Amino acid sequence: MRGIILAGGTGSRLLPITRGTSKQLLPVYDKPMIYYPLSVLMLAGVRDILVISSPGDLPQYRELLGDGSAIGIRLSYAVQEKPRGIAEAFLVGADHIGDGPVALVLGDNVFHGAGFAELLRPHRSHTDGCVLFGYAVRDPERYGVAEVDEGGRLLSIEEKPDHPKSDLAITGLYLYDNDVVSVARGLRPSARGELEITDVNREYLARGKASLVNLGRGLAWLDTGTHDSLLEASQYIKTIEHRQGVRVACIEEVAVRMGYIDPDQCHRLGAGLASSGYGQYVMRVAEDVRRSAGRAPSGAGLSGPLPAR
Ligand code: G1P
Repeated sequence: MRGIILAGGTGSRLLPITRGTSKQLLPVYDKPMIYYPLSVLMLAGVRDILVISSPGDLPQYRELLGDGSAIGIRLSYAVQEKPRGIAEAFLVGADHIGDGPVALVLGDNVFHGAGFAELLRPHRSHTDGCVLFGYAVRDPERYGVAEVDEGGRLLSIEEKPDHPKSDLAITGLYLYDNDVVSVARGLRPSARGELEITDVNREYLARGKASLVNLGRGLAWLDTGTHDSLLEASQYIKTIEHRQGVRVACIEEVAVRMGYIDPDQCHRLGAGLASSGYGQYVMRVAEDVRRSAGRAPSGAGLSGPLPAR
């Protein structure tokens, strides 16, 4: 399964911050926002990932993340000339997707919680239809909204409805079979002139091939779209990290615990950032994985013992 991170849009609700910087490069506490969705794909076992952004912003993503080889993945880059909608990612990324399934994650979506990786992994080999992830929120009218029956079966999907049929927002993580490219090619722009991801999902629903996984209240799906919600997301991550002594969405940690890189490489990456607490943490993780090598299979450390601060 290939991955796409869409880091487009104008970030207009965060102006003037986003006048000179891409929204998805803004910090969520101690790391750039895009680390969070990148971690999601890496945890799901997706290692060949296309980053899509605007012509002006793309060089900054390349500078930040490089070709991915340092963390044992493959990153490539493509331009979305204008913010013409989320579904355009499948047109821009058609070559990258090739003839297999694809996972799309929006670059401003922050997920956190135990069991999230386990929830995603079985879907990696998924090739038939689409899988959406729902999350109950107080203000569903700001999102794509899913209506489900008592059995959890998807009945309808609406984009930012005035009168939502449920409180279940559709998060910015989507898994599709290869048909998504032809579905996207058949879309017409919506009233606001965009190729809507919700129209893609409705087409899958019409074909009887859309399913929804409710993430449940044990996981956190955080908003980063406004000044307040961006600060609140940072405060949430800070609270968890300070209390538990771990870092959320540390891509070097994910890479070494998933077995994408060895502890020596992880240590080198940490050493390169050693003047920050983040870099020191990456070095401690390398030590921890080195010590437990032979005692646990790759990836097990993500829910196993964690390094002391
Ligand atoms: C987009 C989608 C919406 C989805 C949301 C998740 O909204 O259109 O269906 O619920 O992402 O983050 P936007 O962020 O473009 O307003």
